[in-house]
Amino acid sequence: MAKSIYDQTYARSMRDPQGFWAAAAEDIHWDRRWDRVFDDSRPPFYRWFTGGELNTCYNALDLHVDRGRGKQRALVYDSPVTGTVRTYTYFELRDAVARCAGMLRRQGIEKGDRVIIYMPMVPEAVIAMLACARLGAIHSVVFGGFASNELAKRIDDAKPKLILSASCGIEVNRVIPYKPLLDGAIALAQHTVNRCVIFQRPQETAPMVRGRDIDWNEALAGAAPAECVPVPATDPLYILYTSGTTGVPKGVVHDNGGHAVALKWSMNAVYGMGSGETFWAASDIGWVVGHSYIVYAPLLKGCTTILYEGKPVGTPDPGAFWRVIADHGVSALFTAPTAFRAIKKEDPQGTYMAKYDLSRFRTLFLAGERCDPDTLHWAEERLRVPVVDHWWQTETAWPIAANCVGLGMLPVKPGSPTKPVSGYDVRVLGEDNQEMDAGQIGSIAIRLPLPPGCLPTLWNNDTGYEKSYLTKHPGHYLTGDAGYKDADGYVYIMSRVDDIINVAGHRLSTGAMEEVLAAHPDIAECAVVGVADEIKGEVPVGFVVTKAGVARDEGEIVRELVEKVRERIGPVAAFKTALVVKRLPKTRSGKILRGTIKKIADGQDYVAPATIDDPVILTEITEALGTRGYPKK
Ligand code: COA
Ligand code: AMP
Repeated sequence: MAKSIYDQTYARSMRDPQGFWAAAAEDIHWDRRWDRVFDDSRPPFYRWFTGGELNTCYNALDLHVDRGRGKQRALVYDSPVTGTVRTYTYFELRDAVARCAGMLRRQGIEKGDRVIIYMPMVPEAVIAMLACARLGAIHSVVFGGFASNELAKRIDDAKPKLILSASCGIEVNRVIPYKPLLDGAIALAQHTVNRCVIFQRPQETAPMVRGRDIDWNEALAGAAPAECVPVPATDPLYILYTSGTTGVPKGVVHDNGGHAVALKWSMNAVYGMGSGETFWAASDIGWVVGHSYIVYAPLLKGCTTILYEGKPVGTPDPGAFWRVIADHGVSALFTAPTAFRAIKKEDPQGTYMAKYDLSRFRTLFLAGERCDPDTLHWAEERLRVPVVDHWWQTETAWPIAANCVGLGMLPVKPGSPTKPVSGYDVRVLGEDNQEMDAGQIGSIAIRLPLPPGCLPTLWNNDTGYEKSYLTKHPGHYLTGDAGYKDADGYVYIMSRVDDIINVAGHRLSTGAMEEVLAAHPDIAECAVVGVADEIKGEVPVGFVVTKAGVARDEGEIVRELVEKVRERIGPVAAFKTALVVKRLPKTRSGKILRGTIKKIADGQDYVAPATIDDPVILTEITEALGTRGYPKK
């Protein structure tokens, strides 16, 4: 049988990675060509395109203006929560970004400086990201749903010279003031922040701290447009913090050169998008999906990108996505399965879809969490377009496994994100580091080197990078996911091997939540597990044992715990349920049996491990869960 284009392309990327990526790099404008496509002089810190110089912002904006795309829409801001639609052409976006970069320069920002962006989904946030890239400054965007404490951790690690923020975000119909969270974070952080530029939104004006805060528009007034500063390909473009296995987030770094090459390549190969078409990633700029597929990749490709400040439901109804697709001529939508579960719940028949012209809509991409076959089929049947499940992580910035639309789609197998994308040598390994047979579950690893665009290291933490990702399976990058490959080489992602859970497509550490619960003065010990949820996929549920002698009302303690997690981690954790239990099930060596608790809560069959300390505790846990309505089905 003739090999598919996908197979041929993948084989080429494995056989001759340097030739493969050098060819892809021809699509990028380089201020200086690279000396080495692939630099393995300092293993395991492999680098791509060393010696090369470029500017990511130039490639995302100016290049298109120079090549005659200036009048095309670059960015469409669609905000049902404020009733606003605003369009920027490539000309307009380039000019806005150049002025913003000039403003940053006036604030003393230069190449290599860090700038934290803590902003809602407004165009100014995208402009700020690109303005940092223009100057070679390193941005670190922090998702608005995180609380002060999480922001403070990021401030202390990134040590920004400047923070860009806004007075508020808008969640459906609630105004969420951002400024108190920012002020709280700066007060908590050890690192001193001398300057904040605040974008005042009409929905809520924030009080300013004298001498530290400046109004965005005042700072912008009279700023001279800044030119693009060429930077080494291996210089960081951004740091994005993500949940690790402890309460300390990991500062994932992505560089300029490899990132631009891989992202631009992915737009056609993975997403089947051509320049001039409209791409919509319905995510948030605080997540990697937002970095890669709201901002960088579509603009590098010369597409129109949509910045949507709204939800799949409630803004105003479950037809919101179809309205945006129809209004702006979207060819491909990328979102998380949770968004579709939310739409399906409110509009099971898909009646809202019929109200809109979806004739230009070609493909739906889902990622961020396991795509359950029910959701996949529902979307396929209603939309009558291919639905592509694909798998990736903050660390890779672009897909590891996908059904590559631009390389000719392979048959869909529900439950699988299809096959590895070019450049990724995906292996399923056992404890002995040997490859598992087809169908057998193991730890999913990627044989080094990772392709361009993936993290070269953690911010200021080479040791942490090696320890977190490269130690478990020598010569491989540990994805942290467990799963298998079938006989046809399709990959199946089944679960995490660590304490990460996926709540509405958001990656969270249960360990971080346990740290918060354990800090409560009445709590002796605790466990947090991700329990199946109809809409969000998983939600965290806490199990706590109170200290001897604590006689307070349990409901009151639980309320305090819920409030503490919201205050310390943020509303995004969606931590709403905690149960006071007498004891936690453990092995004789003292390891809490979180996996078994999860199975009980989800109503799955389980076998009590032979090493369990006292099996009666499982009955107690089952009863406690029963009083709260678990398992749900
Ligand atoms: N700023 C401040 N607060 C925020 C926020 C932000 N940017 N984003 C979310 N929050 C708050 C929400 O208001 C909510 O607070 P609440 O507990 O007071 O209600 C909490 O964080 C949880 O938010 P969310 O996970 O969005 O849940 P939801 O119930 O409001 O909405 C969905 C559920 C499914 C509609 C929503 O999660 C969604 O649209 N998901 C799309 C998937 C996605 O974007 N994934 C990202 C990776 S692709
Ligand atoms: P994040 O770094 O926030 O993008 O989260 C990455 C994690 O989300 C992965 O390691 C997986 O656990 C999960 N994930 C992402 N996409 C998928 C998918 N298509 N199928 C299953 N899990 C996924």
